Parts: sequence; structure tokens; C-alpha cells
Amino acid sequence: MKKIYLDNAATTAVDESVIKAMVPYFNEKYGNASSQHLFGQEAKRAMEESRVIIAKAIGARYDEIYFTSGGTEANNWVIKEIGFANQANDKNHIITTKIEHDCVLNSCNLMEKLGFNVTYLDVDKQGFVNPKDVENAITDKTLLVSVIHGNNEIGTIQDLQSIGRICKEKGVYFHTDACQSFTKVKINVKKIPIDLITLNAHKIHGPKGIGALYIRKGTKIGALLHGGGHEQGLRSGTENIPGIIGFARAVKIANFRDIKKMQELRDKLINGILKSIPDAKLNGPKGNKRLCNNINILFKGVEAEAIGGYLDAKAICSSTGSACSSHTLDPSHVLIAIGLSPEQANSSIRLSLSKFNTKEEINYILKILPKIIKKLRKISVFR
Ligand SMILES: Cc1ncc(COP(=O)(O)O)c(C=O)c1O
Repeated sequence: MKKIYLDNAATTAVDESVIKAMVPYFNEKYGNASSQHLFGQEAKRAMEESRVIIAKAIGARYDEIYFTSGGTEANNWVIKEIGFANQANDKNHIITTKIEHDCVLNSCNLMEKLGFNVTYLDVDKQGFVNPKDVENAITDKTLLVSVIHGNNEIGTIQDLQSIGRICKEKGVYFHTDACQSFTKVKINVKKIPIDLITLNAHKIHGPKGIGALYIRKGTKIGALLHGGGHEQGLRSGTENIPGIIGFARAVKIANFRDIKKMQELRDKLINGILKSIPDAKLNGPKGNKRLCNNINILFKGVEAEAIGGYLDAKAICSSTGSACSSHTLDPSHVLIAIGLSPEQANSSIRLSLSKFNTKEEINYILKILPKIIKKLRKISVFR
């Protein structure tokens, strides 16, 4: 049975051309970028060329890109080290939202334990943050606003421009977690007033274990890892050169054609499900304020875990929420934040696409999913 992979918000297949670009940096050009010999300098050059590619993709300067081990690390870095570096001026207030990735929320929880105040903003029924709410929450003690760009569970894309403008006016740092939106939704730091952006590679057909933090020049932030002074002294540790090369290659091959294809497949799948399955409801917005690859549907009266099991038996990989944080059986905090009951949240599945999915795969899912839901509703204890 051929596998149909619809869990691309969790991670993506590494593109063949990314693998090809990375391989020589494991076994031929394996120098340490800090070594002075030719071998080391070859690695350093490749790393700096990669940094330029990633910087260009968001309109940044190359020396505003700092490599990390991924999105989790970059988000931890921002929340903690913006906090610690600025608390001296009596600034101890962080604003974020109720729909952030766990790595932001848990970092904020830690900051609360350390004496910071954190405001967790509500969102509306489609997951949008109201910029007015950001404005109203800012006080003279606020130092940072952190709002996820494209939500990993329901695909909602936030209005960074409006939120950024408010933060700039109020003199507050603005950060976004763009792990899900990077290369899918344009971000240009020359146009959007934003100070920090979290990026990673494994959502865009790059390797796992590599990401980056954009830090606007002049931002006061402490070092994350102390050591030999790598990454301008802010993130020490021998650089992951193959990962960095793969990340840059993944950014380079991302293109509008693939976005358009995913959008079309997304809408075909959403419309097909809503048409053919009664009591099915889309979680999150429709249209271009939704990530091009995200589908999240509530099937009334059916347990999502059971749907996932039946799909799995047909070799279709889906998700009941955020795979990066689904170590608990608690209902998704994102679905609760948009107003679903715990029961509705546990009846919702996420299907997330990549450029590798096909129309034939979508047709196949539209053929078997109604049968699965019908069968499960017959035996459901919920109804
Ligand atoms: C929105 C978002 N932020 C952060 C992360 C964590 O990134 P990483 O897996 O690179 O640590 C993920 C998922 O992995 C994500 O979806």
C-alpha cells in the first residue's frame, strides 16, 4: 500500500536536491568553520553563503541571521534572553497569545516563575489576534510582544504589519514564530516593523535540527549558549554545516508554483469534505488568511484518535493536533482558544499538505474518509 503523507505541519520529506547539497559536507568538506586552514575556511564560506540566502528571503542583512538547532531553541532564546537582558529597566511584562506553540508558552511559564508577568491574549473564533488587544495590553513595563505568524494547528495567518506598527509606536520588541509560514507567506523585515523572527528548516523540506533566529540590529538580547563565541558571541557551539547548507537549499527551491498547488489541493480537500460529510466543520479561516497547506476539520460525534487510526490502517498519515506537542491527551489549547469544547477539540483532525501531494491522493481521501466517519458515527458513544 502506498503511503499518503498528510502530516507536513509536523515535518516534511527532505527534498532530494537538499540531500544532494548536504552530503559533501558530511564526508568531503567536513571542516570546522572556526578552523583557520583551507578546509575550515571552505566550510565557513559555504555557511556564510547560506546565511545570505536565508537573510535575503526575509529582506534582512546577513549578519542579522543567527543559526540555531531549530524553532524550539530560537523561541526559547527570544522569550528568555530578551527578558533577562532588559529587566534592569523595570521591564518585566511579556505579551503573547493563547495559540502559540508549546515552546513559546512553556518558556513564558518559566518566565512567570522567575517573576515576569505574562499576558496571554485571546483570539477570535478563527484564531485571529486583534491588534487593538495588543495595543490595550501594552503597559510601560512591557518589553516584548510575541505572536505566532501562521498557526501550526489551524493555519491562521496573523496581521504582522498592524501588530508590528503598534509595537514600534510603543517602543516594545516584536517577535514572531514563523516556523509554519516561512517561504509560504512573504515576510520582509524592511516593510514589517519586526525585531525577531523564528525560522526552521524541517517544515520546508530541509533537515531537522537546524533553524535560525533573525535579530534586528540594535536589539538588546543576551547570549543563549556561552562558549567559544560562535554566531557573533550569542550562540556558541560548532556550527551544523550540513544542516545549514540543507536549510539554505530548501529556502532557495521554495517557490510560488508549489504554494499555488498546495492552495488548490487544500481547497479541494476542504470543500470535498464539507460537501460529502454531514456535521463536518472547518476549524480556522478560509482563503488566503489560512496557510496554504493546512486543513483542520471537526467531525461531530467522532473521536479524532479513532479517525487517525482508521486512516493509518489505509496508510494515510494525519494528526490530531500539533505533533510537536502531542505527548499528552489533553485537548488542543489552540482549538480550546477558538471556542471549541474539549469534546469538539478531540473530534478534530489536522491534514497538512506539501508540494509532494497529488490530486489523486486527495481524490482517494475524499473517497474513503466519508466511509470512515460514517462507520465511526455508527459505533460512537458521543452521539
Ligand atoms: C509554530 C512552530 N514553532 C516551533 C516549532 C518547533 O520547531 P523545531 O521542531 O524546529 O524545534 C514548531 C514545530 O516543530 C512549530 O510548528
